Amino acid sequence: MPMTRAPAVSLALSLLAAPMAPAQETGAAPGDPERGKIVYRTLGNCVSCHGWAADGKAGVDLRAPTGPDLRETALDEASLTEVIRCGRPGTAMPYHDRAAYRDDRCYGLVMADFDDAGKPVRGKTFGEADLASLVAYLQARVIGQGKPTREDCAEFFDNPAAKACSNLK
Ligand code: HEC
Repeated sequence: MPMTRAPAVSLALSLLAAPMAPAQETGAAPGDPERGKIVYRTLGNCVSCHGWAADGKAGVDLRAPTGPDLRETALDEASLTEVIRCGRPGTAMPYHDRAAYRDDRCYGLVMADFDDAGKPVRGKTFGEADLASLVAYLQARVIGQGKPTREDCAEFFDNPAAKACSNLK
């Protein structure tokens, strides 16, 4: 990718190219997958519901993961960003933007629009750069990657001896 292009130009080009090429190639998501992994693993606590491999089952600390398999998700970059930012009101999927439902940035709704049972759940919150990195991580290393391997596991924990990896091939 040419690095000398002015940001505005490369943004325009990446918008033109967006339907054809994955985000990592167009530069549409400035996120850093390695940072995104840390957000997934620790800051965002996604592991507690989706598992380390995001397959909704291969968790180590979890007895009963409740999140679905993200390796198989059909969501694109914009939808991933939205669901992580805003959560899914009425389900356990929490929102991660601290201003969500204070203004109407999420689905045009504010907290007062929900009854008690349907209120969105607040998760760990983090900023825009971390959100972009998290989405970049999911797109680069999780979605469409098939069954998680021992190598994926060692890489995820930055530790080949991680206990969670011992029963994987
Ligand atoms: C408290 C448990 C919980 C936590 C924590 C959690 N999720 Fe979820 N997540 C869920 C559940 C449950 C759903 C399914 C919601 C539904 O029924 O639509 C979901 C759905 C999703 C979806 C939509 C998948 C699809 O194909 O529709 C994405 C993407 C997602 N979660 C990513 C994340 C990320 C990234 C994090 C960490 C920042 C995270 N989740 C944290 C429980 C959780």
